Amino acid sequence: MTEWTVLGICGSLRRGSYNAALLDLVDGLSEGARVVGADLAGRLPLFDPDVENDERAWPDAVREFRARAEEAEGVVIATPEYAHGPAGVTKNALDWLVGSGGLVGRPTLLVSASPGQAGGMRAHTPLMPPLTLLGAILVDCVVVSRAGARTDASGRFTDPAVVDRVRLAVGELQEALGYAAHKRAPGVL
Ligand SMILES: Cc1cc2nc3c(=O)[nH]c(=O)nc-3n(C[C@H](O)[C@H](O)[C@H](O)COP(=O)(O)O)c2cc1C
Repeated sequence: MTEWTVLGICGSLRRGSYNAALLDLVDGLSEGARVVGADLAGRLPLFDPDVENDERAWPDAVREFRARAEEAEGVVIATPEYAHGPAGVTKNALDWLVGSGGLVGRPTLLVSASPGQAGGMRAHTPLMPPLTLLGAILVDCVVVSRAGARTDASGRFTDPAVVDRVRLAVGELQEALGYAAHKRAPGVL
């Protein structure tokens, strides 16, 4: 079976994060794909063009994040909604990719979870312009509301409706990964 590499971006630094749990669910349902680098977004410094312009000064997290992004065939972003927008950690991670190859042609899945009724959906719309700029191909958006009621005692999403919805999204991501690989194959126009 093909083994896809998918860059994970988790926008929460919180212990017991629902978004980290959602990313774990994506990983667990992704047969034939593995999510890499999910801890890196939270370790990146605030984006600074002066640091970016001096590669020797790059912190390890920047070096590693850029490398993981380059090797990844797809992306999954799990972001909290803060103040009706995406978490700063999420946007900061995308800023660190603008000066690299970005996410050109990478099928991308956007997911959010929140204890509230909207499930973090207002974090998604503002991420679409930067994702478009980076060349990502958005395949699906999933929001999970009332997250506390849909996780078990260990914080994992066990609600069958959530699992089914995420499975559907992962299927879309995998189909897009296959299509993107087909387009990259030699001899394919
Ligand atoms: C500063 C702050 C702002 C927040 N703003 C929103 C918001 O606008 N909409 C919302 O649904 N939840 C909001 N929340 C609640 C978060 O969605 C909730 O804390 C969520 O669990 C964060 O994601 P995590 O569990 O992955 O850390 C906010 C939380 C904080 C701390």
